[in-house]
Amino acid sequence: MTVRGTRFDETPSLLLCYRQLQPLCLLMSPSLPLLVAQLSDLHLFSTPEQTLLGLQTMASFSAIVEALVQLPQQPDVILLTGDLAQDESPAAYEQIVQQLRPLNIPTYWLPGNHDHLPSMASILNQAPIYSDKAFSMGGWQFLLLDSTVSQQVHGAFSAKYLAELDQYLQSTTQPTLIALHHPPVAIDSDWLDNLGLHNSDDFFAVVERYPHVKLTIFGHIHQQVEQQRQGIAYLSTPSTCVQFAPNQKTFSLDQSQPGFRLLQLYPDGTFESEVQRVRINEQIDLAAQGY
Ligand SMILES: [Fe+2]
Repeated sequence: MTVRGTRFDETPSLLLCYRQLQPLCLLMSPSLPLLVAQLSDLHLFSTPEQTLLGLQTMASFSAIVEALVQLPQQPDVILLTGDLAQDESPAAYEQIVQQLRPLNIPTYWLPGNHDHLPSMASILNQAPIYSDKAFSMGGWQFLLLDSTVSQQVHGAFSAKYLAELDQYLQSTTQPTLIALHHPPVAIDSDWLDNLGLHNSDDFFAVVERYPHVKLTIFGHIHQQVEQQRQGIAYLSTPSTCVQFAPNQKTFSLDQSQPGFRLLQLYPDGTFESEVQRVRINEQIDLAAQGY
């Protein structure tokens, strides 16, 4: 995909820098939707042979990447929504570069609770993989937020961070997609709801002031969820490796296949979305009590 870019430097610190990208096809046909692929919770290790709950996470990630390549239309952008590494190793992030660079699709990322942010920032920063946390494409604004809390599994935002988000949302009226790792909404699974975004009411208080915020996407819960609240859709995607069973009080795995989410974003702020699953041969250890 050919892209044209212009950088602007005057932005709030939260958002680091701002990238304006317009795929060439959209310049010619402005009514076409932007195709976004969300991949989450890769949980890669330093070597491809290592397993999580019996599953080689690199093998399942490779299967997901192959499924992206086989799509009838290549995504215009890929969003990686955290837990990209299981062991915080630089080698895990290097493998993401090796897998995704050949696709030549603009790719953006945010950290999850398992990630090592300094390693991510130093490795996942060469085209077509960008460390920008705000950009515009296809008439939409994209904001990638860091909901992680040091040494904690759950997520939260500081008051300062939310104030910067509020400031940024005041500066645009374009349809906006917000991505973060931790779910702001409860999903009727006690153990996961305790590990979500702890101050989601503070987050809602900001984003619900802006009707141009249309979508919030996240990972962390390793399952497909679709909810709506005050005109904003809240969507999660399955993990690219192991899945958690829905509606459980305690840790419980699911036999569902790995997957990813596709979103078609229209310039008028409407969208469509679906989850695609990818069949793999490996079996996970369903009796596991945690990881
Ligand atoms: Fe995860």
